[in-house]
Amino acid sequence: MSALSSSNPAPSQAENAIALKEPAPLFPFLDLKTQFASIRHEIMAAVSRVMESQQFILGEEVQALEGEIASLIEAREAISCASGTAALELSLEALGVGQDDEVITTPYTFVATAGAIARQGARPVFVDIDSVTFNIDPAGIEPAVTERTRAIIPVHLFGLPAELNPILEAARRHRLAVIEDAAQAIGAEYDGKKVGSLGTLGCFSFFPSKNLGGAGDGGMITTQDRDLATHLRQLRVHGSQEKYHYKILGTNSRLDALQAAILRAKLPHLPGWTRQRQEVASHYRNLFAQYRLEQITLPATPPDRTHVYNQFVVRCPRRDELRAFLSGRGIPSEIYYPVPLHLQPAFADLNYHEGDFPRAEAASRETLALPIYPELPEEHQAMVVQALAEFYRI
Ligand SMILES: Cc1ncc(COP(=O)(O)O)c(C=O)c1O
Repeated sequence: MSALSSSNPAPSQAENAIALKEPAPLFPFLDLKTQFASIRHEIMAAVSRVMESQQFILGEEVQALEGEIASLIEAREAISCASGTAALELSLEALGVGQDDEVITTPYTFVATAGAIARQGARPVFVDIDSVTFNIDPAGIEPAVTERTRAIIPVHLFGLPAELNPILEAARRHRLAVIEDAAQAIGAEYDGKKVGSLGTLGCFSFFPSKNLGGAGDGGMITTQDRDLATHLRQLRVHGSQEKYHYKILGTNSRLDALQAAILRAKLPHLPGWTRQRQEVASHYRNLFAQYRLEQITLPATPPDRTHVYNQFVVRCPRRDELRAFLSGRGIPSEIYYPVPLHLQPAFADLNYHEGDFPRAEAASRETLALPIYPELPEEHQAMVVQALAEFYRI
């Protein structure tokens, strides 16, 4: 159906103008319906199981999901919570990060990474990215450490693990915690180990568009540290360990049993879906080679890591012109992220300026995300790459 639904018979002039300028996409950037159709019975059985139990808060489903995620990630503990953002906030709080502390992270990420730091009262200290992987450049971390630094948050952006070994070494040298923001990278491996198992804490998101997406918001924290896990379990239920008794104050940040049951139904499919994403990526690579689209830089896959392709992000000349051309032909694309965090008004008080992180700024100007999801039809991929080829031949 077009953006102007038939239930709205009188589009305004402005709507008409938009409709004329931008034809509706020929296919969606992300299609969640196809996947749901393939596992509808499993999902509906999970929903029904919870409804029959009328156990909605924590309980068996949540505990079972935590155990399953812990074994997938090879972490001793997994603590679920309300969202990926909450996972980051709770992690920082459990580590005691607060007022006057500094946390090092990347400016080229979703806002939640640095937002969580600032909302704890601490200062996000940005370090520029590596131009090839789009992840934080480990070489920039030590020069950014001060006596106020408490933690580093590397982000495994788009599904590609950050270069963790030098980050972990810098953290050891300066006694800093490492919180892996693995929101986009569940199941990805670095040096043969799952992301989320290597840092002090790992944070995951079950936002519907993630590789393991729920039917709403949800998050998970993984750790090898049992004391941190106990603290986190306390923080997510208002701080209580014993009902209605509070030695510390926490918040309400729990994963719903309904979400847990749905995620448990989806979890056994994750390895297959990840393989399918990798096949889609490799089909894109073949098509780019076939069309000799050498001006476009494809996502890097360093040999010590696996990429789980939450997004397929390419670097391309004349990005904005290209995107307009693609949407004119009904080809969907997205920009992750058009403004790096150090230039966002919300972080103006950090006093960063244009030019401070040139590689993150260039990535924001030059990258484009192409459609990718496990069931993406090859015909759609062919349409995307044909349109790109057409643009660069004009
Ligand atoms: C890198 C990154 N960090 C954190 C988050 C926050 O997760 P959520 O949307 O579940 O709060 C997201 C997801 O949107 C993300 O992509």
